[in-house]
Amino acid sequence: MIEKINQLKSRIAALTASSAEEVEQLRVQYLSKKGEISLLFNDFRSVPAESKREVGQLLNELKTLATERIASLRQSLLDKEEADFETSLDLTRTATPLPQGTRHPLSLVKAEMLDIFARMGFTIADGPEVEDDWHVFSSLNFADDHPARDMQDTFFISRNPADVLLRTHTSSVQTRTMETAKPPIRIVCPGRVYRNEAISARAHCFFHQIEGLYIDKNVSFADLRQVLLTFARQMFGAETRIRLRPSYFPFTEPSAEMDISCNLCGGKGCGFCKHTGWVEILGCGMVDPNVLEACGIDSGTYTGYAFGMGIERITNLKYRVKDLRMFSENDVRFLDEFVAAK
Ligand code: DAH
Repeated sequence: MIEKINQLKSRIAALTASSAEEVEQLRVQYLSKKGEISLLFNDFRSVPAESKREVGQLLNELKTLATERIASLRQSLLDKEEADFETSLDLTRTATPLPQGTRHPLSLVKAEMLDIFARMGFTIADGPEVEDDWHVFSSLNFADDHPARDMQDTFFISRNPADVLLRTHTSSVQTRTMETAKPPIRIVCPGRVYRNEAISARAHCFFHQIEGLYIDKNVSFADLRQVLLTFARQMFGAETRIRLRPSYFPFTEPSAEMDISCNLCGGKGCGFCKHTGWVEILGCGMVDPNVLEACGIDSGTYTGYAFGMGIERITNLKYRVKDLRMFSENDVRFLDEFVAAK
């Protein structure tokens, strides 16, 4: 028995392990209930009484030795792991670059549009998205029974009285500005607008517009045309042509819609422009004297022009986005396509 104990002692003193699993195996092998040392303790019963003292002491020493040896193997593995981690740290490595994201295509196009108008002397005006009937409809000469006032077309916030609503166009900022500022007024008003439309690839319940307004003495339709031609050429290229078609808006008289020569085929005719060579981009006209008067501006002294266009529409023409829903879904695969345009 004493010999066995001594053999075990020298084996245990020489134990090595290269992983935590190996240490655990050693613990089971020597120290668990059925381990080699426990078995020796079981045999202790058959040791003759006169040797019990000596053997008992040796057994206890053996157990302590095994416990300490295994604990120290475990500790040295942990120390090694920590040291390896520290030497594997490369503090000279540059940090992992964080993705910076891209600007939204609508923001890019809006900024470009505002820039063009800023160079022509327009300043930016702002107004609320939650509006009232006066600023969105009545002041702009909409008849009482105009369909836009219908619940089908406009989101009303209060039904009775049907006065608080989400603006359906940025023309409301015209009124807000004219009510407070004195001519000359030369503003562009970018913003979000809302319409009660079923969402599809071609229509959305919200989108963005830029409204323009110029009020001064002797403002003519020729001035309007020149500003819009300059805008179209700076936005879509110097070879761009425009055409104005008579139209109707309650707040302008005369009114027109403007087309640009198709920027895909250069006006020759293609699938995109339905083989007409033209694509529509905006509505415009001379501010109706009723609107000037409603806003406290003397229509005998002052005249003005206004125009309004959709930012999504202009963005589509520039970047050929086929589905309007892409603009509000925040799919990074779509947004990342505009990284070069930062
Ligand atoms: N407010 C019109 C719309 O939402 C766009 C518009 C047309 C604005 C003619 C104007 C304008 O200022 O003169 O469809």
